[in-house]
Amino acid sequence: MDISSSLSCRVVKGPQVFLPAMLRLLALGMLLVENVAQVQNGNLSDGSSMPPVPLYRYENINLPEEHIPYFLHNNQHLAIACEQDPHCPYRKYLKKSKACWGYEKSCKPENRFGYPVCDYAEVGWASTIEEAQRVFWKQADFGYVKERINEVNTHCRPTAVGDSSLQCSRYLQFCRATNLYIDLRTPKRNHERFNEDFFQKGQIGGYCDLDTQCFLAEGQRKSPLQSWFAELQTFTALNSKPMEDGSCDVIVDKPTYFMKFDAGVNMYHHFCDFVNLYITQHVINSFSNDVNIVMWDTSAYEYGDLFSETWKAFTDYEIIHLKSYDSKRVCFKEAVFTLLPRMRYGLFYNTPLISGCHGTGLFRAFSQHVLHRLNITQEGPKDGKIRVTILARSTSYRKILNQNELASALKTLPLFEVQIVNYKYKELEFKEQLKITHNTDIFIGIHGAGLTHLLFLPDWAVIFELYNCEDESCYLDLARLRGVCYITWQKKEKVFPQDEGHHPTLGKHPKFTNYSFDVEEFVRLVLLAADHVSQHSKWPFRRKHDEF
Ligand SMILES: *[C@@H]1O[C@H](CO)[C@@H](O)[C@H](O)[C@H]1NC(C)=O
Ligand SMILES: *[C@@H]1O[C@H](CO)[C@@H](O)[C@H](O)[C@H]1NC(C)=O
Ligand SMILES: *[C@@H]1O[C@H](CO)[C@@H](O)[C@H](O)[C@H]1NC(C)=O
Repeated sequence: MDISSSLSCRVVKGPQVFLPAMLRLLALGMLLVENVAQVQNGNLSDGSSMPPVPLYRYENINLPEEHIPYFLHNNQHLAIACEQDPHCPYRKYLKKSKACWGYEKSCKPENRFGYPVCDYAEVGWASTIEEAQRVFWKQADFGYVKERINEVNTHCRPTAVGDSSLQCSRYLQFCRATNLYIDLRTPKRNHERFNEDFFQKGQIGGYCDLDTQCFLAEGQRKSPLQSWFAELQTFTALNSKPMEDGSCDVIVDKPTYFMKFDAGVNMYHHFCDFVNLYITQHVINSFSNDVNIVMWDTSAYEYGDLFSETWKAFTDYEIIHLKSYDSKRVCFKEAVFTLLPRMRYGLFYNTPLISGCHGTGLFRAFSQHVLHRLNITQEGPKDGKIRVTILARSTSYRKILNQNELASALKTLPLFEVQIVNYKYKELEFKEQLKITHNTDIFIGIHGAGLTHLLFLPDWAVIFELYNCEDESCYLDLARLRGVCYITWQKKEKVFPQDEGHHPTLGKHPKFTNYSFDVEEFVRLVLLAADHVSQHSKWPFRRKHDEF
């Protein structure tokens, strides 16, 4: 799997310590826009004197309560300030200061945010359960973050304060740059969103010492949604500091994330973008919302985004199209090129995952982060009631033809509170959709991108993919990543396709027809799901199995 080249690249190892100490302050400090200056200037030498105002704007941290100890662990300057500040709302977490996500060098297994569970060890991947857990943790949990951090290599090295820098993980899947120069005076825009020779030599670069040989050896995965190689291959070591020699028409002080988006009209694909942005934030240890997000797009087209409310979890500002900088030379003090949505062995599009394992801390944290920042709360659950949501589809295929009959059958049982929803973006804003999903205990829908909603179910929930249309692993795997129980239709003779299906070009196809379902079998499966819910360790009204 690892195509290690024989080059001796200058790898600076270790989480978060990418650059020599002096330059580190400069390069890494900037993404934490939170005002730490106040802390440093405050007189903290005497612990008995109570500062009149808080030493820090704690509300800017804006993370789920459960994440705070982990955040403090990785932001020791804040933990120290908090300790000395009676106004700090997080003092109760300082004792738990060993809590760690899992990728930190000093992180002990018992202090990790989470660890996956494996029911068996899949032959070919692992020979013991412990090994299977390690494999899954590296494939899809915070072990994945750890691997990216460990890969980071400095390609363009600063030699003095104020110089530029460029650091990347392997194949330039992720990069970060300081004092980056981009010349957009004569951009080669065309119909392609990801034109691979957008920049000539000298149109992108910085004032630093570039190791050209190692840098150009990272091109094996050059491809729009797999790497930043095409965009950065012409990166040039400039002769003077762009920020100081007058060559920037615009200087962007705010930290900037460059992203290349997958399809914004499809929830499954677009959430690959959001998840990768979140993973990137772990790699650089910053969750600040005071950042710009620039959509890297070499066309002049607009971008259709049905889930744009989700951006509020990541930035306080509107998404910026790259073209809005056209005709200028733009310099970015701090730029991050985020992990991409279709990387080989990346997450979560088509990721090869060891079977038998489920429940990553990474996807649980992602879900909590988004829900917290969008202020979506859990209003239940209710004792003696299981909230069932059936997702209807409004396209011309994969309709559940007898959905009303199925819902009625469930409604005859007092245990269930049933609703059929149609998540049409024009009629129900995305935040409202998430609110319904998060307040669901059993979520039922036929194969389709809407099932990506499972990311936002509560931990005890069951996702019931009514029928997978012979695409067996897509939502099963997503459910395993998120750590919610997954069930699907089992008896082929009890599902009734309207016809053999008509793919626009491929002929017969199970995804291109409508379905009806045997009512009795449906009720049996939903009762099975209800059993899972009520037995879940996090279900607050958990009873012994035979009482249910
Ligand atoms: C800090 O506090 C100490 C003790 O109260 C005082 O002696 C010192 O002058 C103060 N320093 C500053 C910079 O205010
Ligand atoms: C968050 O939502 C709750 C109700 O769901 C509401 O009472 C509260 O004001 C909201 N907070 C913010 C900051 O919007
Ligand atoms: C599926 O149902 C929709 C809406 O009722 C209809 O337009 C479509 O033709 C149906 N598809 C098939 C294959 O019958």
